[in-house]
Amino acid sequence: MKRTDSLEIRCLDDAKEISLVAAEEFLQSYLAAREAGSRFRVALSGGSTPRLLHKVLCAAPYPDKITWREIDFFFGDERTVAPSHKDSNYRMAYDTLFGELEVDRAQIHRMRAEETELDAAARSYEGGLAATFGVSGCESGGPTPHFDLILLGIGSDGHTASLFPGTSALGEDERWVVANCVPQLDCSRMTFTYPLINAAKKVVFMISGEGKRSALEGILEGAEADTPYPARRISPSNGELLFLIDRAAGAGLTLDPPNPGGN
Ligand code: 6PG
Repeated sequence: MKRTDSLEIRCLDDAKEISLVAAEEFLQSYLAAREAGSRFRVALSGGSTPRLLHKVLCAAPYPDKITWREIDFFFGDERTVAPSHKDSNYRMAYDTLFGELEVDRAQIHRMRAEETELDAAARSYEGGLAATFGVSGCESGGPTPHFDLILLGIGSDGHTASLFPGTSALGEDERWVVANCVPQLDCSRMTFTYPLINAAKKVVFMISGEGKRSALEGILEGAEADTPYPARRISPSNGELLFLIDRAAGAGLTLDPPNPGGN
């Protein structure tokens, strides 16, 4: 493996095992925040992979181990659709997680990406971040919030959150949350930026399926200079980076030593 950052890669059997390990990571990060006497702040990933994780978290033993009211839920990105739309990341999280838990609406920080003034909505989301983390806002040069945990996936093009290849958000080095025009999807998105993601205490990627194989090789083993994969630049400056990958996604990697079973 060529990548030299301090990161951990766990090769697991399938998406189900990824969700089981991710749930344990969620619990450990939650317990660490509680041990430190603070609320647990987590950013959920969109897409379909997290559905399994959410299902695991709703089932024993997690409801007995986690006090859900101690958590502030954020989103790493959102599509420019209504929260009730089938493509909404919020809708997916509500249907698979929030609807099963005893949480107040105030704990769920939804990105209002359906608003026509998308950048204003992104700035408003930054304001909510500043208030939750007790820091002054991004615009007044406040310290970047440090999430306890940020969950991410990747697309077959190597995007993560809504940081897509060739888009303007890739060059954002100050803002925490931005509106991002994604021409290849003929839409815009709201997304966390590299400064916010790389300030996290822990980032966990959940990557499953053959379709991610090529991008994953580029992310973990490609030369940084020429890689077109945005997820390659996720590298928490003072945090942990964990890749949970299944055999189908990781088949092309030259892991040494191989790490079967994720132990
Ligand atoms: C989104 C996600 C996106 C996702 C990847 C993987 O809004 O779509 O934030 O970055 O994590 O596209 O999606 P799957 O889990 O569906 O493969």
